[in-house]
Amino acid sequence: MSELNKIALKIISNGKGILAADESNETMTKRLEAVNVPSTPENRLLFRETILSSESMKECIGGVILYDETIKQTTNFGKSIPDVIFSSGALPGIKVDTGAKNLANSSEEKITEGLDGLRERLKKYYKLGARFTKWRGVYCISDKYPSKLAIHSNAHALARYSALVQENNMVPIVEPEVLMDGDHTADHCLKKTSEVIKKCFDELILHKVDLSGIILKPNMILDGSSSEYKISGEEVSRKTIQCLQNSVPSEVPGIAFLSGGQSEIEATENLNLINKNNTTNFIMTYSYGRALQQSALKTWSKNNKDIKKTQIIFNHRVKMCSLAAKGKWSNELENK
Ligand code: G3H
Repeated sequence: MSELNKIALKIISNGKGILAADESNETMTKRLEAVNVPSTPENRLLFRETILSSESMKECIGGVILYDETIKQTTNFGKSIPDVIFSSGALPGIKVDTGAKNLANSSEEKITEGLDGLRERLKKYYKLGARFTKWRGVYCISDKYPSKLAIHSNAHALARYSALVQENNMVPIVEPEVLMDGDHTADHCLKKTSEVIKKCFDELILHKVDLSGIILKPNMILDGSSSEYKISGEEVSRKTIQCLQNSVPSEVPGIAFLSGGQSEIEATENLNLINKNNTTNFIMTYSYGRALQQSALKTWSKNNKDIKKTQIIFNHRVKMCSLAAKGKWSNELENK
């Protein structure tokens, strides 16, 4: 077993998943302003240190993805953020892409940037405690998109990123996200997501990436968010498993889904059904941002001094996702 494979398994095994707390300052500002909290470095730190010191971190979270600002911050109780994560038994990770920009010659689509100077940045992040990383390629979907150009160029960037990350002894999270926006059917999402993931693996193999030392972070197979149809959770799970079975090489240790705008309950229920129906050998778990933090953020915004109250909400959400990662979640447990 390679060292990278051990790290990947430590992050995602036994019902553990990933907390995606890597919102850029711009995205975090949107999240905080939506609950009427000014987006200052102090407030961003206060919310994050509150959830990172919750009890459920020990049992349910194997890794936390951080943003550049956060990995360098020291909490109000004197520990660095990476140390708070290490002391819960989880591993700190870092988002290393610099965002999605318009793709030349297909400007409605995006290409993720951040390869320039990446090798040097990775060395600095390793010293700060990072043991895994994230890069998100984002694809819009319609009759004509994602184009071959977007599929190819994002896969190429994801592979070059992954090779550099492994060279620096960290596990790359490979995140190709086909967005939910649009009125497309789940079958169209299945077709396009499969194409996107297959191309990513073509490029990862070409770039000699050790597939046993990565974590794939895909979207689930869903109808478009403005589609009038909504397939059932059972169908979501079957189509998602079909997609992954046909497009992910067996060496990959595990898959940690993004929530992508699903509600907390939808993201939990769908993950639970995926695990109940899982016919593959892949570990299937969560790498949620909004679907782990939304309710906790709302509670925290009402009284940020009541740390316990925010932590109770966060603990419940994380425990429900961890149960779902084992196929053991139920509505009764959710509402207990
Ligand atoms: O890159 C996206 C985030 O890491 C996951 O966020 O679960 O809110 O889609 P989300």
